Amino acid sequence: MSKSIRVKLKERSYDIIIEYNALNKASDHLNNFISNRKCFIVSDSNVFPLYGREVISAVFKASGINPDYYVFDAGEKSKNLQTVENIYHAVLKSELDRSSVIIALGGGVVGDIAGFVAATYMRGIDYIQIPTTLLSMVDSSVGGKTGVDMPEGKNLIGAFWQPKLVLIDNSVLKTLPSREVKGGLAEVIKYGVIFDLIFFDKINDNIEYINSMDAEFYSYLISSCCRLKAEIVAKDEEEHGLRAILNYGHTFGHAIEKIAGFGAYIHGEAISVGMLMAGELACQLNMMDRDQLNKIIAVLKKLDMCVKAEGITGAAMLKAMKSDKKTKRDNVCFILPRDIGNVEIISGVDRNLVIKAIKKFS
Ligand code: GLY
Repeated sequence: MSKSIRVKLKERSYDIIIEYNALNKASDHLNNFISNRKCFIVSDSNVFPLYGREVISAVFKASGINPDYYVFDAGEKSKNLQTVENIYHAVLKSELDRSSVIIALGGGVVGDIAGFVAATYMRGIDYIQIPTTLLSMVDSSVGGKTGVDMPEGKNLIGAFWQPKLVLIDNSVLKTLPSREVKGGLAEVIKYGVIFDLIFFDKINDNIEYINSMDAEFYSYLISSCCRLKAEIVAKDEEEHGLRAILNYGHTFGHAIEKIAGFGAYIHGEAISVGMLMAGELACQLNMMDRDQLNKIIAVLKKLDMCVKAEGITGAAMLKAMKSDKKTKRDNVCFILPRDIGNVEIISGVDRNLVIKAIKKFS
């Protein structure tokens, strides 16, 4: 069954299509967007060997032109300006012009880099997201955040640039390593905590379907997250307020990724621990009942997700958090829950409380 969700952004509106085996019929889905247009596929060394040929054939069938492609080494370590420059050279060599289309085939790193290239090449060309990890299906492929990391911190260089289509084939999750699935589940649970208690309870009540990779339940999870994200992005595309709640767990999480060295903890693992640190801080500030935090911890444990960032110190975390994009004039901002389903943006928190919250989960 195919589900379609509209991201409503006036002339920049687009659809997210979620369909089991969508890649088999990718040319039908792509046809409207790429017919007679030169396409260029950006992918990584994990995904391209699995799905590259299928997508090349679909693009050829839909556009009538054989696409070129660029494949970089998989992992967060590639998410930098050097990879972007390499892709610029490749697309120039392929003679892409302003009517060409970039297709991102892969997880969050691929989508962020390919999107950034599309946002900046010849002052912006169209791109399509074909996310292949749970994390990118439920979060990063939707909403137009593109960019790369700097040694100083995550996602510090980037642009808002919306895709023309997000095509999700959740059958590809069967080839996704379990570590990556669990990383993606951190972002799924995030939506429940920030926005939707009923959704959180549904996750809690269906742990066995999640652990057994039930395709129908995953389709429900993905479409629910995309619906919530589409609603938030439509209200606050460029994160002037509401959209910041999507960063729950990310102030702590980005710092964990940076301190441990990009790639030591995958993004979703760092976010999983970051959500608990934020939850602990909320408890210490008497914003949230400890029962609620225990409920979140219990779900993460039942899904065998990362709940500790061993060896990370509070002092290093505080230093790393200062370079986070959300930090304003040295004042670190946190997205903290009041209850499951309801968060607030808080700044000016006593650093000793922050360190205490970090200690609890490190
Ligand atoms: N991943 C957070 C956002 O898209 O705003």
